[in-house]
Amino acid sequence: MTESAQSKAMSLWVATAEGTQYSRLEKDLEVDVAVIGGGIAGLTAAYELRRRGLTVAVLEGSRIGTGVTGSTTGKVTSLHRLAYTQLAADHGMEAARAYGQANEAALAYIAATVQAAGLECGFRRVSNYTYAEAGGEQLEAVRAEAELAARLGLPASFITDVPLPFAAQGAVRFEDQAQFHAMKYLHGLARAVDGGGSVVVERTAVRAVRDGTPAVAVTDHGTVRAREIVVATNVPMGDGGRYSGRLTIHRSYIVASPADGLPADATFISADEPMRSILTTREDGTDYVLVGGEGHPAAEGDTGGGSAARLERLAEFSRERLGGGEPAYRWSTQDTLPADGLPFAGPLTPDSRHLHVITGLRKWGLTNGTASALVVADAITGAASAWAGLFDSTRELGPASAQGRERAEAEAPLPPWRGLPRLAPGEGAVFDVGGKATAVYADAAGVVHALSARCTHLRCVVEFAHGADGAEPTWDCPCHGSRFALDGTVIQGPAEKDLAHRDMPD
Ligand SMILES: Cc1cc2nc3c(=O)[nH]c(=O)nc-3n(C[C@H](O)[C@H](O)[C@H](O)COP(=O)(O)OP(=O)(O)OC[C@H]3O[C@@H](n4cnc5c(N)ncnc54)[C@H](O)[C@@H]3O)c2cc1C
Ligand code: FES
Repeated sequence: MTESAQSKAMSLWVATAEGTQYSRLEKDLEVDVAVIGGGIAGLTAAYELRRRGLTVAVLEGSRIGTGVTGSTTGKVTSLHRLAYTQLAADHGMEAARAYGQANEAALAYIAATVQAAGLECGFRRVSNYTYAEAGGEQLEAVRAEAELAARLGLPASFITDVPLPFAAQGAVRFEDQAQFHAMKYLHGLARAVDGGGSVVVERTAVRAVRDGTPAVAVTDHGTVRAREIVVATNVPMGDGGRYSGRLTIHRSYIVASPADGLPADATFISADEPMRSILTTREDGTDYVLVGGEGHPAAEGDTGGGSAARLERLAEFSRERLGGGEPAYRWSTQDTLPADGLPFAGPLTPDSRHLHVITGLRKWGLTNGTASALVVADAITGAASAWAGLFDSTRELGPASAQGRERAEAEAPLPPWRGLPRLAPGEGAVFDVGGKATAVYADAAGVVHALSARCTHLRCVVEFAHGADGAEPTWDCPCHGSRFALDGTVIQGPAEKDLAHRDMPD
């Protein structure tokens, strides 16, 4: 990809929002509900619970929104590519109808919240399209999705005049959908939660949760006791690995390029492969087009030419099809795909009494995460929820992805460590050092830093990952997506503990 002076390896949404400055947890706390995770799921649950009169503590390990939500595309919609065809086939018409209703209700909830809380987050109504470029199978799939969605009572129609600057044969159109600046929305929710006996804390990773009366969240800075705890960490923590085989971690990439003349009242996703997702936005006086895609299971690591090649393919699509300039921002993030296509919102485990979970948002978490947060808020406040059954987190699944286990079993023997010449400065790799899988990194000065290469979640061997476009490299776990900084600190769970430091032989 051609470098431009302004090109940044970060999300447009993170770059164009003011940072948050909530303090760390400074002392032990007691609240009605502790919510772990300051993404869309956690903050929506916290906002709603506070609205219902409970005191809430939001415990965010990093900064609000800097997980998956701040790296989203920004579509707020119940049209999830061709989801209804699949859901109806797998779960029946009533389940597909309920999924659509839950997501439409989430969209309405977001619109009402923006209004009620006066959130300035660029929320605007758009039509959302799933388009087919060619005729044939994909066009028929799109037509079938439109007809089915209309039968389910959703605002769907099949159209052939797709408002894209390149030829497309037809599309499902959902009217009255929306898009927003996800970071600004979350910041608004956080402001509305903080105060009056409730609190938002940042840079406060929860190390462990314990069920009971009270339930307890343990951090390095203090302990939070609560009647109920909501685990909204995207990939659940504290579940003993229960979700590992029920979720696939999927990584995707986005570029944001300056672009003029594209429709501002429409968002798009292709039915065709390779999948491309398109959204336009105006930030700080510049019109941008976002193109997302190139998704792959995190367990497939660096296939497809690596992140640079994936981002370049998106930039090329943006340039050639949409008239986009050189990308100003480029980023990637990962989300959880539930094995049966339905989110999980409910008890963390079948035995949990006061621990709740939200996960499996299937890359449509702005609405699925909102709907799930409302399911959990209802459970905590004893209200009836129309979707608790559909999103039941204790449901049994058929044979699930088990990507982690397969991967762990397929582990190749590691090369033995034979000293520095094997590693150039700035490079890392995993070696067998004295019989132990060891993650070794040589810094720019050639100094070696060693960590245990066993992921602290379920002990898969981590892999060295170059940061995209100059970002700091990380150690990534191919099994369920945990990511660790070069000093071993957890960046992203489900791992809760840092990688241990190792001494290298002289
Ligand atoms: C490329 C891409 C594009 C997408 N585009 C869309 C879209 O257009 N529309 C849509 O609806 N969905 C989209 N999604 C999906 C959507 O963005 C996600 O489903 C959603 O943002 C997930 O929200 P979350 O609250 O579960 O997770 P997060 O936003 O990741 O929030 C979890 C938070 O928990 C914190 N945390 C983790 N562990 C701990 C701990 N131990 N202690 C304390 N805090 C912790 C993290 O720091 C993080 O801030 C997209 C996903 C991807 C990958
Ligand atoms: S073993 Fe599960 S994330 Fe590493």
